[in-house]
Formats: sequence, C-alpha cells, structure tokens
Amino acid sequence: ATAQSSVVVEEQENAPTISRHIYGHFAEHLGRCIYGGFYVGEDSEIPNTAGVRTDIIEALKEIKIPNLRWPGGCFADTYHWKDGIGPREDRPTIVNQWWGGVTEDNSFGTHDFLNLCEELDAEPYLAANIGSGTVQEFTDWIQYVNHDGESPMANLRRENGRENPWGVKYWGVGNEMWGCGGNMTPEYYANLYRQYATFMSSWDNDSGIYRIASGANVDDYHWTEVLMRDVPKHLIEGVALHSYSFVEWESKGPAVDFNELQYFKTIERALNMETLVQKHTAIMDKYDPDGKIDLIVDEWGGWYNVEEGTNPGFLYQQNTMRDAMIAGATLNIFNNHSDRVKMANLAQTVNVLQAVILTDDEKMILTPTYHVMKMYAVHQDATRLEIELETDSYEYQGEKVPAISVSASKDSQGKVHISLVNVDMNKAHDVALDLTSLNLKKAVASILSSDDVHNHNSFDNPDKIQVEEFNDFKFKKGNLSVEMAPFSVVVFEVN
Ligand code: AHR
Repeated sequence: ATAQSSVVVEEQENAPTISRHIYGHFAEHLGRCIYGGFYVGEDSEIPNTAGVRTDIIEALKEIKIPNLRWPGGCFADTYHWKDGIGPREDRPTIVNQWWGGVTEDNSFGTHDFLNLCEELDAEPYLAANIGSGTVQEFTDWIQYVNHDGESPMANLRRENGRENPWGVKYWGVGNEMWGCGGNMTPEYYANLYRQYATFMSSWDNDSGIYRIASGANVDDYHWTEVLMRDVPKHLIEGVALHSYSFVEWESKGPAVDFNELQYFKTIERALNMETLVQKHTAIMDKYDPDGKIDLIVDEWGGWYNVEEGTNPGFLYQQNTMRDAMIAGATLNIFNNHSDRVKMANLAQTVNVLQAVILTDDEKMILTPTYHVMKMYAVHQDATRLEIELETDSYEYQGEKVPAISVSASKDSQGKVHISLVNVDMNKAHDVALDLTSLNLKKAVASILSSDDVHNHNSFDNPDKIQVEEFNDFKFKKGNLSVEMAPFSVVVFEVN
C-alpha cells in the first residue's frame, strides 16, 4: 500500500539560521482572541497573571513562542493606542468595526500587551494604525514604549506606572493596505510608507527598530515589485505577505466535517506557499540582491466556516489533523526558505482561525496545530541543513500535490532534527532518508497521527490527539527508513 519517496540531508556551507521568529504568533482584537481568550481581567476566578490566563501563558512558554503580533490585523488600522492606557475606568470604548461590531472597553492595552510579552519572553510586534491614524500618533507610540529619557511620552508612561521602556523592535507600518487598511494602490502606499518610516526613530532601543511594510495579498506580485522598487533600502527592514488556506474564499468549507475534495483543495493552497515564497523572493532578489530586506509572512493558516451557532464575525473554528498538515508543511517551507523568510505569524493564537489554543470558560485545550508547533520548536535558531527531496504524489481525481514535505536543521549541541509530513489522506508513504554525510549514530522520534483526519481535541476529549514516542523506523549506517502513515507528522532527533 506504500509508495517510495527519498530525501538526502546534507550540511551546506554558509547555511542560514532558521530564525526562531518563523514560529511567531498573532493576536488580534477579534472575537474571543483577546477578550474572553487571553484576557479575563484581574478579578476573574480563572487563574491569571495581571488579567491574562495563566494556563495560556504556560502553554505558550512550552512552545517557546518567539514573538506575538498585536493588535491586528484589520483592527490595527482602527486602533488608537492612547485610548488603551491610563486608569481603566477613564478609557473610552471602541466599536470593532471589522469583527462583529462589538463594543470594547479598551481594558487590554499597550501595557497589558507588552507586559504579557515580557512574561512570555517573546518579542512584541506592534502593528500601527496607518489607515485612520497619523504620523504623530504613530511616533508618539514609539516614543511611549521605547524612550528612556525625559520626553512627553516617556513621562506619560511613567505616570502610568512603567519606569523602563519595553524596547519594542518590530513595527508593522499598517496592515493589508490593499484592503481593510485603506484600499490603497501599491504606488500610493509606497509613498505613504516612506513618509511614516522617515519619522520612526529607534530612540534608545539597543536592538534598533525594524520596520515591516504591509505586504502582498497571496500572489499580488505587483505589490511586492512596487514596494521593492519605490522604497529606499534605508527605510525598510521587512516586507510582509499574507496567505490563508481554504477551499475557496467565497465558500471556505467546514473546519471538521470536510470531504476529500475540500481537504485536497485546502492542502493544495497551503502547499502553494512554496510558489508564493519563491516568486516574491525572486522579486526581492532583483531589487535587493544582498538579501538585506526580509520576507515576513505575518498572517498564514487555515480559514474555514465558523462553528455553528457562533458569531460569524468572530472566526471561531475547530482544528483537526488537517490543520496539523497545514502547520507541518508550511513550517517546512519557511525553514527551507529561511535565508529570506525571517519571521512568520500563524493566525491566530487563541479562539480565532487556526488557533493553537481554544478556551471555553475556565476550560482550555491545545489543538493539533499546537502540538506541531511544540514538535518543531527544535528548529528555532538552529542551522538549516540542505534537503534534496524526491517525493511521491498525493492524487485526488487526477490532480496531484507532493505527498511528502521535509526540512532539517542542526542545533547548537550538534543534534540534527528532521521534520517529515505526509499530507496524503489515504496512503502511507515509504521514505528513505540518506544521512550518510552527517556521521550520525542514534535516532529517536516523535509522531502526531490519528486514525481519522477529522479527529480533533475537544473540551470533552482534550487529549485525543497528542504527541507520542515513535519507534517504527530503521536507522542503519546513516540510512533512515520510515513508513509515514497517512496525514502524519514525524520529527526525528539524530546525533
Ligand atoms: O486574521 C484575520 C484577518 O485576516 C486580519 O485581520 C486581516 O489582516 C486578514 O484579512
């Protein structure tokens, strides 16, 4: 019943580091991501640290969350940060115009978010309001969080109880400026970007300031071309890209009860990230041959119909073994392109889209996607290894996608990690890995698999899908062979 694929893993001269920031996350004011997700408030009976659920903090530390993007998304271009500082009782409300039209009380603001990032030991990535804000509002925010000396905004921060600046390095200059950020043309946005970027000072932040331009929607190569052409190199550090996986935008399909056609189409879209990264990179190479500007995939993941009975504007969906396939294969793509892809953010951390965590009152569950993130954390900041892959296909009604996806790295202790994914919904695939050039002796492995691709963790059965030890492989004289079960992820540690 099996088919054969082969992989050669080798060391490469001047190999890039797989930035830990590829394993980043995204938390928008959307549905129950912040309010009723992360943030329950200090008076909640749910155990919390300054209002943020302690169980969520612990779970995110476990996967070594490297960065967190906030407050949006589309919400970012409506957000006025000054409304979210100072005494809570004095804060104005805001109507979340993009997501369900709900009224928020601004109780989770800049201090709450940046203190949370400190608690998580994650880098904050702030997305600023370009769509409906001003240069002054933006530069005040930077001064407020980063200025160490005497200044109007640093003094205001101190009045609000925080002496030391947080030192925020990563800043998004708007979000989806081709859509919810203002429906701009790339030419117009490139000019606006130049204006905003000019006034972004790093103040006293030792690590400098890292400016990320709002990037292309999927295969809008023209957008990347114009930004790379029109923005001077000294004003930009990163260019973003967004791409989600679904059956079709107009009809995204169910999160759990999908049929094989819907599975195949969603996986095909996820695997298309390979083409997107290659083509956007080729444009960047043309204008930036030295690779100074990074590609930042700051929104990616599966996007389906919301769960029945939930607010359509809240984007709450379950997370199955299909999502584990999307996560495993997409992260392999980012690892393999880690010379250009330096950061990525899965959308979104809690209760929204392809979440790693779901909550229901005091209950919390970890999704299959969470487990993939945990298995893959070994790649963070490791040196990438070179892969040559010949893969068999996964075929559905005459259409084909590659069945096997793989990436590999070597960590600071010399341990090699290889992450393998078989996206085939029906067939196991034999994979023969040639590691002979690496001179390794011993292999151990872990697996995420299940007997039905629709399986997921639920509040009644939170541990249905878990990572398990895996021994069903052969390792002899540098040759590793394994039968990859349908829709499974395996991570090997070899040394
Ligand atoms: O992640 C949900 C939404 O998707 C974000 O707010 C927006 O940037 C994108 O369209």
